[in-house]
Amino acid sequence: MADEYRVYSDLAEWWPLISPPAEYADEATHLAGVFDTAATGVREVLDLGSGGGGVAVHLKDRFALTLVDLSDGMLAVSRTLNPECEHIRGDMRTIRLGRTFDAVLVHDAVDYMTSEGDLRQVIETAFANCRPGGLAVFVPDHIADTFRESAGGGGGGSDAAGRQASFREWTWDPDPADDWVQAEYEFVLREADATVQVVRETHRLGAFSRATWLRLLADAGFQTLTTEGFGEDTDSGGESSRGVMRGYLFTGRRRR
Ligand SMILES: C[S@@+](CC[C@H](N)C(=O)[O-])C[C@H]1O[C@@H](n2cnc3c(N)ncnc32)[C@H](O)[C@@H]1O
Repeated sequence: MADEYRVYSDLAEWWPLISPPAEYADEATHLAGVFDTAATGVREVLDLGSGGGGVAVHLKDRFALTLVDLSDGMLAVSRTLNPECEHIRGDMRTIRLGRTFDAVLVHDAVDYMTSEGDLRQVIETAFANCRPGGLAVFVPDHIADTFRESAGGGGGGSDAAGRQASFREWTWDPDPADDWVQAEYEFVLREADATVQVVRETHRLGAFSRATWLRLLADAGFQTLTTEGFGEDTDSGGESSRGVMRGYLFTGRRRR
């Protein structure tokens, strides 16, 4: 389960060094462009699985963001970066906010849905929190149709206090018959006093077929508007830090 991963729990304060907010700028620009295509206009956006707020930091000047994540540690990181945004602890599979948004965004956190039942719940949650005619945008890193093993991608950064972090990532598929792949991470975390810890962690990440995505979107009541692929799974592979755009983008309009 994602809430048991150390990188999102006891190591969450390292997140802005492991995955620096600046690296989300290109993706955020792309997402803003997607919101701008909505016929009815997008102002209020719900971000499910907002993590350290790396995407939000680039969108908050243009959109009113409500940020939801399962991890208190990640919410704390995002509150520091995005104090003007509303933050709510919640599960993207079940949260119902009792109001609707012009758009619902589920960025890379949707990777932590590893069964069709969980993915269905997230899409239904997006529907329940989206106003009729509003937009839902899902950005999984992988889909089964184009998944390719990748070795040695990574990234990292440093802060003014002298801390540094870096990570490497290997992604492979233990069983192509199921809906998830496996990412092996190695995090190197260096304190300002030069103390270093190395943490290895294995994550399960969803890799559903495009057909599954389209079926679940339709079942929930979304009209699929676009499906789009970019980055490592679809071209020559290589770097997988967020500095290089990658993954898939599914957009749907909530039917009335
Ligand atoms: C890769 S991080 C997201 C990074 C984010 N895109 C950013 O801009 O910083 C994945 C996040 O998914 C969250 N997550 C995983 N499962 C979740 C769930 N069921 N509900 C809400 N958040 C979840 C984790 O707590 C973690 O913060």
